[in-house]
Amino acid sequence: MNLPNIYLIGFMGSGKSHWGRIWAGKNQLTFLDLDSEIEKEFGMKVVDIFEKHGEDKFRELEKEHLRKTGERKGLLVSCGGGTPCFFENMEWMKQNGTVVYLKASEHYLLDRVMEETAERPLLKEVNAAELLFFIQKKLKERAPVYEEADLILDAESLEEKSLEEIFKTA
Ligand code: S3P
Repeated sequence: MNLPNIYLIGFMGSGKSHWGRIWAGKNQLTFLDLDSEIEKEFGMKVVDIFEKHGEDKFRELEKEHLRKTGERKGLLVSCGGGTPCFFENMEWMKQNGTVVYLKASEHYLLDRVMEETAERPLLKEVNAAELLFFIQKKLKERAPVYEEADLILDAESLEEKSLEEIFKTA
């Protein structure tokens, strides 16, 4: 398909991969998960890249793989929670596609990430009591970047047809 790419952004636990997969399937787009692409090519889980090579290395790989998506069309890319906040990634995504932010409240995100902290390097060292504080702090830092998206959707009330307005104009 010759549609421009769509970049789904939002905090960990906002449902980017879940909804991305559904929307891609319904709109003849190819679903691509940025973390999975990195893991495939680097041959290591994200959590291990952070541990063995550090966050800076991961952010380099993330930038590199994000830029690679620009060589293809018709992709629905589920980004990592931090993707828009490093380098000029946000600007680049807006120039190379449509950026959609799945916006959710801190408590919603807390419920969603609670059971998956081991898989998420940034949450690995955070205990349950600190988790809400961590989410609040990080979200406050990142929200101004996320809010630059072309479209903001309420992650807590999404439906399968939530992306219709983008596809109508794409
Ligand atoms: C990160 C989010 C993760 C992953 C990495 C860093 C972040 O992706 O890219 O652990 O900085 O918020 P998800 O948002 O898909 O969990």
